Amino acid sequence: MEGKFRLFQNNTIVILGAGIIGCTTARLLLEKGFKVTLVAKHVPGDDDIWYASNWAGAIWHAGDSKNDKHRYMRAVSFRRFMNDYQSDKECGVCLVNVKEYFEKAPESMADLLGRKINPNFRSMSRDQFEKSGFEYGCQYDTLVIEPPRYLRFMKKKIEELGGLFIKKEIFSVDEIYDMFPDSTVFVNASGIGPKYIKGLEDSKCYPNRGQNVLVITDTSTAFLRSGEEYTYIIPRPLQGVVVCGGVNQGDVDSSNIDMSIAKDEIRRAHKLAPEAISESPDVAGYVVGIRPAREGGFRLEKEAFEDDKFILHAYGFNGSGYALSYGAAHYISIMVEELERRFCVS
Ligand SMILES: Cc1cc2nc3c(=O)[nH]c(=O)nc-3n(C[C@H](O)[C@H](O)[C@H](O)COP(=O)(O)OP(=O)(O)OC[C@H]3O[C@@H](n4cnc5c(N)ncnc54)[C@H](O)[C@@H]3O)c2cc1C
Ligand SMILES: *[C@@H]1O[C@H](CO)[C@@H](O)[C@H](O)[C@H]1NC(C)=O
Ligand SMILES: *[C@@H]1O[C@H](CO)[C@@H](O)[C@H](O)[C@H]1NC(C)=O
Repeated sequence: MEGKFRLFQNNTIVILGAGIIGCTTARLLLEKGFKVTLVAKHVPGDDDIWYASNWAGAIWHAGDSKNDKHRYMRAVSFRRFMNDYQSDKECGVCLVNVKEYFEKAPESMADLLGRKINPNFRSMSRDQFEKSGFEYGCQYDTLVIEPPRYLRFMKKKIEELGGLFIKKEIFSVDEIYDMFPDSTVFVNASGIGPKYIKGLEDSKCYPNRGQNVLVITDTSTAFLRSGEEYTYIIPRPLQGVVVCGGVNQGDVDSSNIDMSIAKDEIRRAHKLAPEAISESPDVAGYVVGIRPAREGGFRLEKEAFEDDKFILHAYGFNGSGYALSYGAAHYISIMVEELERRFCVS
């Protein structure tokens, strides 16, 4: 009998993946006193195109989320990023002003999550957006994240809290179950991984390629255009560059820079914000990354396998992994606490 018992609290929770989702989940669980081990092919510091978290813009943006859970997830992330920004100005999070232009006016102003979350939110006057053909515009403060810097900060935080990183590619999910025979809880935060990992095959996952241009300019304002001509300009104040994008290429996974896309991104950035981006700006470099997209949206749920062992899914965050990250971690941690409770009641 003895050998059959797994001690829930003494055994590590195993997180597959060390992108922003795996790292925020690890940090939150460690803060709550759980033991955590991350197993991942790519860890903070790595720069493979398949490690999406290294290549994000990244900006906290309200998105067009009408779903209450998604809205709350974004709110949780905003709170945590703001907290890191306020406690460590070098962590990779900065506060910037944003001008956002809408091709189509929002259906209702109450839908604008930014009004409830972003400091200094205000609608622009008509003359500021109408001449460019937009139906609505607003201005507010938000947080931008410089991913490689923030991921290094997260690695340090996680290690300080006692978390362990194991750098390893896994090919079949049984490999991690065998590595941790006494663990009860596994988290599937492998981004696009489930498409390829044996035992995790999820045919809904697909690569959504992004490519950005890094432009040298001292503007510290961000610009967003939502709608058909989806365009963003995201400052990285600690680096003295801005990130110009964007593009979504479903089912494309080439690591080569497509110069026609780069040119078009500069053209669109200049059109959106001529005061910040000149017609032929100084280019500091290019970025390619694969967003982990999933038909039907991200997956955030618990699944039992074997008796008393669980896998918690947290993948498929596509173009919003940073904005949703701490919210995903929040829901995973609630699932873990619920399992802990079930383990100790008779
Ligand atoms: C150009 C671009 C711009 C973006 N801009 C924004 C933005 O402004 N705001 C925003 O919120 N989001 C943005 N994103 C999206 C964001 O980057 C992703 O949603 C997010 O990084 C996904 O994080 P993740 O942890 O799920 O996946 P990943 O970062 O891809 O991490 C997956 C982890 O799983 C591991 N893994 C996978 N398979 C295996 C395996 N077989 N064995 C071992 N380990 C494995 C990987 O090594 C890695 O550690 C952008 C993305 C791109 C490409
Ligand atoms: C990871 O995701 C896939 C896809 O849905 C799923 O089939 C699998 O059970 C998940 N987790 C693990 C550890 O298998
Ligand atoms: C992923 O994001 C892009 C850009 O927002 C969008 O065009 C695409 O439909 C998304 N995919 C899914 C499955 O949501």
